[in-house]
Amino acid sequence: MDIISLAKGGTMTGRSVYHLDLNDTIIEGAAVALLPGDPGRVSEIANTAPIERAREIANKREYRSWLGYIGQTPVLVTSTGIGGPSASIAIDELAQLGVRTFLRVGTTGAIQADVNVGDVVVTTGAVRMDGASTHYAPIEYPAVAHHDVVAALLCAARELAVPARPGVTCSCDTFYPGQERYDSFTGYVPRRFQGITEEWRKLHVLNYEMEAATLLTLTSAMGLRGGCAAGVIVNRTRSEAITKADLELGEGNAVRVAALAVSYLI
Ligand code: URA
Repeated sequence: MDIISLAKGGTMTGRSVYHLDLNDTIIEGAAVALLPGDPGRVSEIANTAPIERAREIANKREYRSWLGYIGQTPVLVTSTGIGGPSASIAIDELAQLGVRTFLRVGTTGAIQADVNVGDVVVTTGAVRMDGASTHYAPIEYPAVAHHDVVAALLCAARELAVPARPGVTCSCDTFYPGQERYDSFTGYVPRRFQGITEEWRKLHVLNYEMEAATLLTLTSAMGLRGGCAAGVIVNRTRSEAITKADLELGEGNAVRVAALAVSYLI
C-alpha cells in the first residue's frame, strides 16, 4: 500500500486518493460529480448530453472515473459500487480532491402504487437504514438533499418531460432482507424487517435503494451539496421481476435527468 497516496496532502504536486486512484491534477478542478453505482454505466453517463468530450481517467476496483465537460467546465463521473460503505469512500475521497456537489444517479424499486416504472424519484430525504452514515453522524442527524440539487433535478425532469417524484427514500444495506424480499436463497426475512415495507408505505416513503442515505448524510454533515435521482425499474406493489426493458427505461430516464441537472448546478 502506498503510504504517500493515503496521506493527507498526497504528492508534491497536490493531493491524491488511494481507492479512486485519482489526483487533483487529473480531475482538472472538477467540482461536480455524477455518481452511478455501476462501473459499467460510467462511460454512457459521461457521454450523455450536455456532457461531452469525455475520457476515462481511472479504473480501480468498483471505482471507474471518466472526465467530461459541459462547455469548458469539467464534470466527473465516478462509480461508487453498491451500498453505503463503498459509496462513503468515493464521496470522502472526491471531497478531498475538491468536489463540492454530488449527484447520485441510480435505479430503485418503488413501493407506492402510483410511482411507475420509468419515473425518476428525486430524493428529498432518506430513511437511514444503512450503516455507513452512522460513522459520519449520529442516527438523529437527517439525511437530506441540498435544495439546489433537488431544484435542478426537478427542472431537468420538467424540461425533458420525464415524470419526477420528489419525496422520501428508504436506503438499505441489503437488497434482499432489508428491502423485505422473500425471493432470496433462504426466503427468510428476519422479524425486524417483516412488514416493514407496509410501514414505510404508510409513512409515504416512495422507494427502496441502497446509497442515498449515506450520500445525503455525508454531504450534509460535510457542508456540501448532495442529491439523488433514481429511475424506477420495478414497482413492488405489482411485481418483483425486474425486466431488461424496465431497467433500460428507468436507468435511461434517470441518467438524462441527472446529466441535464448538472448543467444547472455548475
Ligand atoms: N435497487 C434497489 O436497491 N432496490 C430495488 O428494488 C431496485 C434497485
